[in-house]
Amino acid sequence: MERRTIGATALDVGAIGLGCMPMSWAYSRSEQRGDRSLRTVHAALDAGVSLLDTADMYGPFTNELLVGRALKERRSDAFVSTKCGLLVGDQHVVANGRPGYVRRACDASLRRLQTDVIDLYQLHRADPEVPVEETWGAMAELVSAGKVRALGLCAVGARAARRGADLHEGTIRQLERIQQVFPVTAVEAELSVWSQEALARLLPWCAARGVGFLAAMPLGNGYLTGTLTPGGGFERDDPRARHPRFTAEMMAANQPIVAGLRRVAARHGAEVTPAQVALAWVLGRGRHVVPVPGAKQERWAVENARAAALRLTAEDLTEIAALPAPRGSWD
Ligand SMILES: NC(=O)c1ccc[n+]([C@@H]2O[C@H](COP(=O)([O-])OP(=O)(O)OC[C@H]3O[C@@H](n4cnc5c(N)ncnc54)[C@H](OP(=O)(O)O)[C@@H]3O)[C@@H](O)[C@H]2O)c1
Repeated sequence: MERRTIGATALDVGAIGLGCMPMSWAYSRSEQRGDRSLRTVHAALDAGVSLLDTADMYGPFTNELLVGRALKERRSDAFVSTKCGLLVGDQHVVANGRPGYVRRACDASLRRLQTDVIDLYQLHRADPEVPVEETWGAMAELVSAGKVRALGLCAVGARAARRGADLHEGTIRQLERIQQVFPVTAVEAELSVWSQEALARLLPWCAARGVGFLAAMPLGNGYLTGTLTPGGGFERDDPRARHPRFTAEMMAANQPIVAGLRRVAARHGAEVTPAQVALAWVLGRGRHVVPVPGAKQERWAVENARAAALRLTAEDLTEIAALPAPRGSWD
């Protein structure tokens, strides 16, 4: 698989990563099975994937334990990205950015991951009660202590402060503050054919500073793969059951986007899928971009890894640019 470098310290990873979250969190929980997921991680590594994206809150904790089982056997094949700063309670997820907590969280992640160093340690969410510089300073000390190789900021939950404002205005302000304390190696934020907000300012901000960009939800939470049926329903605790783009009506209304990806895929051969086109489009947004498609199924992880070899033509890109804007949003 093509390799990409992220960050000023030039960390080297396979161009496509593996989002491990669906193995223990969020989607179709009744289908989450540890041994099957472990096989998926191995299949992805065999296919050239190196970046495994997890977080202490996925599960909580069980996703890191699962990744740790794979790392124990083949640490040198993997680049592990995990996150701290969000605590899962009975009813809510709350941020905790206190330095003492960050130090304890890192030690606990190292134990669960069965490794002595985390390649990329991300702040999952800034704590509104703690100046972000304080949290970031504590994370920087983990680099000095040799427990972490590089730091990242996760901006997946960004919401525009007001309608029409740049979604990532607040993220960029935060990035500029923490850059004063210690270099940011990567930013993780949503980027896909149907969620292109990061292209406006966040992606160029990263490119201009040699900061890597991990594209979360590059498959539109599964929608862009064309394998979800409008009205098919979701399990009660699956976030898509409450997501405005996943009502039966909006899933039907957004089918022209999937149809467009299918047309592009067909031009590249019968075995090429809409998911691979969606990933190739994300990869094409910049040399500093690494998509991290989530998958618990081995066949998806392998299919997604193969997207690194797919080159979209000018005709493909024109067709994707002309696709209708998605219907249904959080605003
Ligand atoms: N969602 C968030 O809030 C969030 C936040 C921060 C970071 N991230 C990171 O970003 C990663 C990716 O985001 P995501 O997992 O939320 O969304 P995603 O990658 O857009 O979509 C994942 C979903 O698509 C399905 N899928 C994957 N490849 C497929 C293929 N080739 N054909 C058909 N279906 C396929 C998966 O099914 P199966 O599960 O059945 O395999 C999974 O349900 C996460 O895993 C996580 O590491 C996500």
